[in-house]
Amino acid sequence: MRLGRLLLLFLLPCAACSAGDGWDNFAETVFDRRCLPCHAGYGSYEIVREDSEKIAGKIESGAMPPDGGLPPDVRRRVLAWIDRGGPE
Ligand code: HEC
Repeated sequence: MRLGRLLLLFLLPCAACSAGDGWDNFAETVFDRRCLPCHAGYGSYEIVREDSEKIAGKIESGAMPPDGGLPPDVRRRVLAWIDRGGPE
């Protein structure tokens, strides 16, 4: 059981980076939860894509979300996603 959990911790980040994230990977966990309460538009894929350059800047600097930014691994994944043009 313990080994299973360890294995999961080890596999999850790699599965995410090799598959390449899409909007669905962030819609709920990042944008709904961490941005939408203050940015009414960020529940919408189209609006996030339109704003993606500004969003990348704020996420990279840790300025957004204002409560300390996103955890480093999530930050890296969102930035990589935007870098790839934010595929759906
Ligand atoms: C607690 C409220 C709050 C949360 C949560 C929040 N923001 Fe913001 N955001 C603001 C405020 C207030 C401003 C305007 C002041 C500033 O730029 O610092 C802003 C500004 C921005 C801007 C610049 C807008 C512009 O037109 O220049 C971007 C981009 C942004 N936020 C992205 C995000 C993203 C992405 C998230 C989620 C990861 C997020 N914010 C979460 C309150 C919030």
